[in-house]
Amino acid sequence: MSTAGERDRVLSGMRPTGRLHLGHYHGVLKNWARLQNEYDSFFFVADWHALTTHYEDPEIMAANVWDMVIDWLAAGIDPDRATLFIQSRIPQHAELHLLLSMVTPLGWLERVPSFKDQQQRLKDRNLATYGFLGYPLLQSADILMYRASWVPVGEDQVPHVELTREIARRFNHIFGKDAEFEEKAEQAVTQLGKQAARSFRAARQSWLQNGDETARQGARELLEAGRNLGAEEKERLLGYLEGGGRTILTEPEALLTRDSKLSGLDGQKMSKSYNNTINMRDDPDRVAGAIRTMPTDPARKRRNDPGDPDKCPVWDLHQIYTEDTVREQLAAGCRSAGIGCLDCKRPLIDAVMEEQVALHERARPYEEDPGQVRAIIDEGCARAEAVAAETLREVRDVVGTVYS
Ligand code: TRP
Ligand code: SF4
Repeated sequence: MSTAGERDRVLSGMRPTGRLHLGHYHGVLKNWARLQNEYDSFFFVADWHALTTHYEDPEIMAANVWDMVIDWLAAGIDPDRATLFIQSRIPQHAELHLLLSMVTPLGWLERVPSFKDQQQRLKDRNLATYGFLGYPLLQSADILMYRASWVPVGEDQVPHVELTREIARRFNHIFGKDAEFEEKAEQAVTQLGKQAARSFRAARQSWLQNGDETARQGARELLEAGRNLGAEEKERLLGYLEGGGRTILTEPEALLTRDSKLSGLDGQKMSKSYNNTINMRDDPDRVAGAIRTMPTDPARKRRNDPGDPDKCPVWDLHQIYTEDTVREQLAAGCRSAGIGCLDCKRPLIDAVMEEQVALHERARPYEEDPGQVRAIIDEGCARAEAVAAETLREVRDVVGTVYS
């Protein structure tokens, strides 16, 4: 919960598994650059997360970390507004992950969809590891460490944020009980009146033991209806019901980033694994050449064949790069075979090149002076560490590992 004058915190991470491409730029990074103006933003390099899947190629991290940060800076992420850091530089992430693991039921991790999905998809890697099972829990530690209210992520990551909420609630329930919490809660239950108290207890048990959603809803309604309950007692009973407690860790919410379904150079979705990307700082000549040979509507075999922009991967790129009025003309020209595909691609190539020039320009000072990037990360790590240390102070205290 933020107090007046304090901005809500946003946190997100990215794994350094390869060069960033225009899909990252238009999908993720432009969004981050917007968010940094409104929120206290923490963005970090999730190198330990990369290691969970790529532990057999440890060299990829060193190869990608600095270039990734330069790509962020080139995209307009501003180190004066956002805190940029590297996960493994903040060892508290490992400690919090470990402590959270104590109260995480195995089933919760095994049920996260990405666990089985990725094992299926990345068959050439052995992902039947402890580290990979813990991937979403490490992510929970990342998020809970900074008390982030919002986590901008794509659809595939939403279950990880959901898990984080469950973990926070469970942690708060187990470690956030003050001594008389249960006693006071039971006291409050009796204030519901005999009948309602009995129903509430039964519903609560049914929810906590069997996960019966209807029972949880029923119990909530009983609380709403309880006219003798003050606000504080209601709050307490809600915590008693939901398994919450004093808020030690803050429940975050996902801030869904729309998937930029940018087409790659072969017409499939742009993705490193299809080897069809235009990278953020690509070689301009390569980009122009690659767009020129990009596949178009297969119906346009010859210049005189009319086409349908909706069946053309190049058209997806036009949605991002071309103004409505120009796009209307191009669509008409395509449908009537009034223009050829190269005519259609020319303004696109110009726009992508112009963007590349801007990206290269913003990256140049950092490429020429890598020390600047190191300094930005050093400063970001120091800021992150201060928050992390504060969280761990409290967490160690409640889990009992403080000795004096
Ligand atoms: N798992 C995320 C991804 O693959 C990366 C990530 C790690 C992350 N920790 C995070 C994202 C915390 C948001 C918040 O994209
Ligand atoms: Fe695609 Fe443009 Fe060719 Fe039509 S004219 S098929 S939209 S490249």
